[in-house]
Amino acid sequence: MNILEVEKLKTYFFTEAGVVKALDDISFSIPKGSTLGLVGESGSGKTVTAQSVLRIVPKPGKIVGGSIFFEGEDLLPKKEGEMRKFRGKKISLIFQDPTSSLNPLFTIGEQLGDIVVQHMKLKKSEAKEWVIKTLKLAKLPDPENAIHSYPHQFSGGMKQRICIARALLLSPKLLFADEPTTNLDVTIQAQIIALLKDLQRDLGMTLVMITHDMGIVADMCKWVVVLYAGNVMEIGPIDKIFEEPHPYTEALLKAIPRLDQTKELVFIPGNIPNLIDPPSGCKFHPRCQYAKEICKEKIPSLEDIGDGHFVSCHRWKELNNRG
Ligand SMILES: Nc1ncnc2c1ncn2[C@@H]1O[C@H](COP(=O)(O)OP(=O)(O)OP(=O)(O)O)[C@@H](O)[C@H]1O
Ligand code: SF4
Ligand SMILES: [Mg+2]
Repeated sequence: MNILEVEKLKTYFFTEAGVVKALDDISFSIPKGSTLGLVGESGSGKTVTAQSVLRIVPKPGKIVGGSIFFEGEDLLPKKEGEMRKFRGKKISLIFQDPTSSLNPLFTIGEQLGDIVVQHMKLKKSEAKEWVIKTLKLAKLPDPENAIHSYPHQFSGGMKQRICIARALLLSPKLLFADEPTTNLDVTIQAQIIALLKDLQRDLGMTLVMITHDMGIVADMCKWVVVLYAGNVMEIGPIDKIFEEPHPYTEALLKAIPRLDQTKELVFIPGNIPNLIDPPSGCKFHPRCQYAKEICKEKIPSLEDIGDGHFVSCHRWKELNNRG
């Protein structure tokens, strides 16, 4: 069963320079209880996807089409008041930047306690216990004392644990973790990944890992959705994505940093397209090593190739019969 089904979603930003088609007709679904990787380079639309599901797209952005079914209910026609019953409680988000998402003026106990008092209708003392319990879940050391400290008193890794706890306060069923390990050093990154894995398993939550790091995806995710310039390029189970990747995914895979290699990270040559006036046909064609005439002319459709694997590429079949 799917916990989330996104169909033909379009989210645009109406800027002075023109209309930025950040999500241009994307469809995918998330099996309940799974860990799904939402991957793509910077600007591909990962954060806007999470913002759209929660209906917190910042201005001048607007969802202009499609549907988002959460446990069978379409979220898009809901009034703002109804959406508040979903945010944090059913669907939650760990923001891309923990430092700016915590309020520097309040202690951890105050800011997390406020959320609990507002939404769970607990007394202050009960709220405090709940916050401490949740900080323990996120393995923050000494939570009884930590609640009296301010965000700047914690290291980057500890701040991220606090943000994870905050996202879990109201026991969501679906959690988006938006690049939760950016700006953390490698050892701390590994600890945060291990924590998210444990939480997903122990709480039976559905987890969406937003990342551009295919190494993290390989380590954590059963399913993958690959975005490029506001389009879905590929969807599939992790083994299929590695065995028979879409040309864009193949390029992302080559960019995995390997600890055993001194070789520098391989970047995909060329630039991410301008989303106001994107390339014709397959948006990846100016950078694709396999591009042919048809790729410039015709938009490929997302084709079902079996076993839950979908690809949007004119040449995928031919390329995967290379032998
Ligand atoms: N507030 C905004 N105003 C205008 N355009 C925006 C705004 N927010 C996002 N966009 C555009 O939407 C597109 C998708 O952005 P998004 O933040 O989802 O990318 P991302 O995949 O999360 O990238 P990153 O890996 O850098 O976080 C980008 O082209 C971006 O320029
Ligand atoms: S459609 Fe063409 S340009 Fe696009 S990924 Fe496939 S081969 Fe490359
Ligand atoms: Mg982002």
